[in-house]
Amino acid sequence: MLFYSLFWAVLSEDMVKDGYQNIVNIDISSVVIEQMKEKHMDFPQLTYMQLDVRDMSFFGDGSFDCIIDKGTLDAMMCGDDAPHGAYKMLAEVARLMRPGGIYMLITYGAPKERLTLLNQVRCRWEVELYIMPTPEYQLKWSNGAAHAMMEKVALTVDGQLPPDYVLKDPESHFIYVCYKSDIVTEDNSMVAGQDDAMTSF
Ligand SMILES: C[S@@+](CC[C@H](N)C(=O)[O-])C[C@H]1O[C@@H](n2cnc3c(N)ncnc32)[C@H](O)[C@@H]1O
Repeated sequence: MLFYSLFWAVLSEDMVKDGYQNIVNIDISSVVIEQMKEKHMDFPQLTYMQLDVRDMSFFGDGSFDCIIDKGTLDAMMCGDDAPHGAYKMLAEVARLMRPGGIYMLITYGAPKERLTLLNQVRCRWEVELYIMPTPEYQLKWSNGAAHAMMEKVALTVDGQLPPDYVLKDPESHFIYVCYKSDIVTEDNSMVAGQDDAMTSF
């Protein structure tokens, strides 16, 4: 299992508490890596590596069951080599994921931008979309009562938000749960995925 970026220390710790045994955390920043190594020195389940997501050749094909990305694809889209860096990253994501694996992309990018990027990669994804407003908006909406508000939104056949959909909180995060179903080979034929997705969850 691979996480991009490391500020989500609480999430990593909670996943360890939930029984996940092998979580690899990646960031390009050596400062972040060193800080997190020190913070989590008592968590043998968490490994930290300074790597560039555009080149993760350190790992073999199909090495991971799940890849969680919050903000790294967004960072790649703001970088000097956008959008090429983002394509390289997504090609690596597709390569590293075992058939049936899940790429969970947490981003500010709406389907129009992000699904276009995902579809550039030689990989067939089945995508579910969830929209999560900021905690501040959720509190306002629920009049102070604790209430998580994450909405599953059905995409149109061409992968867009429904035309009548109104985004309540403009600061919402979009959460794409992408199931890798097939890899498209160089000659454009399909290699079918397996049906045992999520067995390690
Ligand atoms: C917007 S921050 C997101 C941080 C964290 N996930 C969060 O939500 O608070 C983007 C992160 O991507 C990292 N990053 C940027 N380019 C990268 C690359 N090429 N490879 C790996 N990490 C990269 C940055 O160092 C930074 O920690």
